[in-house]
Amino acid sequence: MDQTIQGGAALITTAQKVLVFTGAGLSTESGIPDFRSPGGLWERYDPSEFYFQKFISDEKAREKYWQMSTESYQLMKDARPNRAHLAIRDLEETGKLLAIVTQNIDYLHHKAGNSPEKIIEIHGTVVTVSCLSCGKQYGRDIIEDRLRSGVKVPYCDGCSGILKPDTISFGQAMPEDKMALSFQYAQECDLCIVLGSSLVVYPAASVPIRAVETGAKLLIINRDETPLDQSADLVIHDSVGKALGDMMEIVIRRNEC
Ligand code: APR
Repeated sequence: MDQTIQGGAALITTAQKVLVFTGAGLSTESGIPDFRSPGGLWERYDPSEFYFQKFISDEKAREKYWQMSTESYQLMKDARPNRAHLAIRDLEETGKLLAIVTQNIDYLHHKAGNSPEKIIEIHGTVVTVSCLSCGKQYGRDIIEDRLRSGVKVPYCDGCSGILKPDTISFGQAMPEDKMALSFQYAQECDLCIVLGSSLVVYPAASVPIRAVETGAKLLIINRDETPLDQSADLVIHDSVGKALGDMMEIVIRRNEC
């Protein structure tokens, strides 16, 4: 077994409190493109079109947003957790998992069977939609039915307010409670594992930085280089499914001995 995989398994075996930080690269092996890789979402769409300010001030921008979002939602709705998601579920079963701080909105950590209270979705989720005026929440499929029936931009039944998926757009305020909890776990963990993130988007990327600053070990599994590679105890530029899946097999085998 590759030395680096053995090294990663040793970090996990030694750790008591593991914080897992995930990005879109975790879900590419489930058929969902990431954002910044070749063929990624931001290669097909211009991200500046989807800023929150534009969404709330321009009906045409809202129409374009819903087109892009519906396309992503259909992919995410049908997607299944891959080997990496299941390895994180296995990590929880070892009792070492403190929390999963995820930038992903695809609900795959839930589908993999991790406990909802351990999953912190700092960029929100695609599975619900809320009114920006009265806060009324809708299941996503209810709104998708309206869009399929020809509605271009959905509005709230209650107050005619603007509806938006419960995801955090560029320029939109981050959920303070979830960020505070994420930093608390970053300070508490003794190992932070980054999986499939370019670590270029803030304030999300400051969570693993906080973990390192407060003494935790850092393991990064990401196909491409990240700005945090130099601060890591171990970096693996390979598939998350293969690397983390192989590591957890070793950890579980050792636990059984
Ligand atoms: N295995 C390992 N790494 C992978 C894999 C894979 N199968 N597939 C992709 N990657 C890596 C890529 O090399 C890339 O560095 O995952 C990383 C994904 O980076 P981004 O596309 O930038 O995604 P992410 O870091 O999650 O983006 C952060 O930006 O657009 C916003 O809100 C959006 O939450 C998102 C945030």
